[in-house]
Amino acid sequence: MACSKTFQGSAVLLRNSAVFNGCISKRASSWWGAVQMGPPDVILGVTEAYKKDTNPKKINLGVGAYRDDSGKPFVLPSVHKAEKRLMDKQLDKEYSPISGTADFCKHSITLALGEDSQHVAAGQNATVQAISGTGALRVGGAFLNGFFPGTKDIYLPTPSWGNHGPIFRHSGLNVKAYRYYDPSTCGFDFKGALEDLSKIPERSIVLLHACAHNPTGVDPRPEQWAEMSAVIKKRNLFPFFDMAYQGFASGDVAKDALAVRAFLKDGHQIALAQSYAKNMGLYGERAGAFSLICADKEEAARTMSQIKILIRPMYSNPPIHGARLVTEILGDASLKQEWLGDVKLMADRIISVRSKLQDNLKKLGSSRNWQHITDQIGMFCFTGMDQQQCERLTKEFSVYLTKDGRISMAGVTTKNVDYLAEAIHAVTK
Ligand SMILES: Cc1ncc(COP(=O)(O)O)c(C=O)c1O
Repeated sequence: MACSKTFQGSAVLLRNSAVFNGCISKRASSWWGAVQMGPPDVILGVTEAYKKDTNPKKINLGVGAYRDDSGKPFVLPSVHKAEKRLMDKQLDKEYSPISGTADFCKHSITLALGEDSQHVAAGQNATVQAISGTGALRVGGAFLNGFFPGTKDIYLPTPSWGNHGPIFRHSGLNVKAYRYYDPSTCGFDFKGALEDLSKIPERSIVLLHACAHNPTGVDPRPEQWAEMSAVIKKRNLFPFFDMAYQGFASGDVAKDALAVRAFLKDGHQIALAQSYAKNMGLYGERAGAFSLICADKEEAARTMSQIKILIRPMYSNPPIHGARLVTEILGDASLKQEWLGDVKLMADRIISVRSKLQDNLKKLGSSRNWQHITDQIGMFCFTGMDQQQCERLTKEFSVYLTKDGRISMAGVTTKNVDYLAEAIHAVTK
């Protein structure tokens, strides 16, 4: 303890005081003696606190991973089947190509743009396998930093997924913001978003959540997407779509890709990050894809060559197992059908617990308007509770959530939804 208290200054100061304190002396002689303790990850911190709580009624609503109605992690039956098939094939463990396999890339971009995509048919996509959605965003950030012929400014919605800012800053881009969420309605600030988008300097980059916006669960309606697309076109901005939840929002992979497909119809060239973490439950397998939609096949080949040059020194080539599972599922019509059923099952469970939570709050006599619980979509609900209310939920009811009032609907089950509604009602009366 004394050791960590004294350890505040620079390495030079430490070296001077080293002779007086055996504990510091050990640090002073280390190359890393001046490294400060960093803050813990906000979301992982919530789970750590949850684990320590002994209340049998405790609920963890911080975690961004799907849970079944018993609160357990869920391996999709279609993924189990694919896994067995892969075992039987006794495949080797050789390196993947830098960009992942051609089959994986083709299936991924087809899932995003649709079987009838003219862009895919014409070979206009430069697609690489990435280390899940995070890796896809990071590779995309590196490419834009190196080759985007406009400003190096990327505009994120306010708020956005907590990792977006660090990923793009780490890629060398300047991170800026446009209005998105309206706390007074717990809904989309359409007017604010349009106003801000129309003022962004031309030839800048705009990050868009394709569906199931994280952390708010608030998505634009199709007609609002159309207006945003028009403004983004008029301002000559470059749209970078983050699609981490395709299928997981509505239960329908085509519906969730509506914005991406509409922007392409409107003539945008886009960048796209995809993740199979949520929609296939492949969280730890790290399977995802990054794509650029180019003017033609030749341009796609040129950009692809540069993306591969960026990847090589970062991690050489991507992991194979998750990508093989994805290829097995998307490459087999009947297994793909089963998977679509699994995705719908997850989405439907989330949609049904949203209704149950809302109904329970109404039944308890809450005078608040909880309409946004069912208007919002996907894994998360931005409840509108303030920091004090969130802290009371944790302290008095052992309900764990981030202090911004975000709850993961995946942690809500038919067994804990009554208790959760009572707790929320108690702190928001
Ligand atoms: C908006 C958004 N983008 C990207 C990701 C990336 O996730 P992963 O790297 O696990 O695919 C997440 C995960 O929570 C997310 O919510």
